[in-house]
Amino acid sequence: MILITGISGRLGSLIHAGAIARGLAPMAGSSKPQGIGERTRRIDFDDPDSLDLGGVSTLMIVSAGYGEDDVVIGRHERIISAAEQKGVQHIVYTSLAGEGDHLAFALAHRWTERRLQRSSADRTILRNGLYAELIADLSAPVDGIITAPFGTGRISAVARADLAEAAVTVLANPAAHRNRIYELSGTDAWSIGELADAVGVVYRPIGLGAQREHLATLPLLPFQPAMLMSIYSAAAHGFLESHRSDLQALLERPPRPSLAEALKHLGQAR
Ligand SMILES: NC(=O)c1ccc[n+]([C@@H]2O[C@H](COP(=O)([O-])OP(=O)(O)OC[C@H]3O[C@@H](n4cnc5c(N)ncnc54)[C@H](OP(=O)(O)O)[C@@H]3O)[C@@H](O)[C@H]2O)c1
Repeated sequence: MILITGISGRLGSLIHAGAIARGLAPMAGSSKPQGIGERTRRIDFDDPDSLDLGGVSTLMIVSAGYGEDDVVIGRHERIISAAEQKGVQHIVYTSLAGEGDHLAFALAHRWTERRLQRSSADRTILRNGLYAELIADLSAPVDGIITAPFGTGRISAVARADLAEAAVTVLANPAAHRNRIYELSGTDAWSIGELADAVGVVYRPIGLGAQREHLATLPLLPFQPAMLMSIYSAAAHGFLESHRSDLQALLERPPRPSLAEALKHLGQAR
């Protein structure tokens, strides 16, 4: 049996729906499930008593980021240990693409990869690129102007839907992807200036200091400014362009055109 964690999240819900559509009959895990039923378990990485993995052969761990490193690492350690104790055969983990190494949230992902390499379970590591929807959100124009410190660096962003489909491909036949690490960045890289031209808005780059001052005026959680600033700086200095992706091979089709599409959808939704 397959169990997918984090199914109330944006990526987890897509993986769960995709696995159902593919006939994999997955069990759903969530820290805040809508209801507990035959095919749903409360799986809260912060609550060791909830980590019931009985009967699970393949565990899809959707990373539970959005916290300080010690919090995220603690969560991942607890779910991996619980899987090992119950003899789960294969763990699939959503990590971060190689070009994301300079991002503030990379460390918890790399720690989890190391932990999985030492695990008694087989593993497949999905090194997800930056979400196109996230970059589109951070580049959302106001009155036709994108004001952001992205400089001129290109970003190889990827649609969550493509990442979910890649994950479902692995879940459908985990043995074929045993102990593999896949780099899953987008295959079309865009600078925010190119993106602005494509969707017909103006890009006004600003400095990192100005953006940090702006973030200080927003109601963010304490860890968020560092995470966001690391995305801007890595992008501006050319670190978020990928030169190697396994996405197309795993999907067996070209990836969706990601960033410009995401920005257009954002414009239509607002
Ligand atoms: N590649 C990127 O661009 C990028 C950017 C930001 C973050 N991420 C990582 O990718 C993950 C999924 O992204 P997303 O956009 O789908 O995030 P999201 O919509 O904000 O969802 C957060 C995810 O964290 C899970 N989670 C939170 N607390 C948990 C807990 N105590 N136990 C178990 N799971 C918990 C949630 O699952 P439940 O609520 O169902 O428990 C959900 O799957 C994030 O958590 C983060 O680690 C990737």
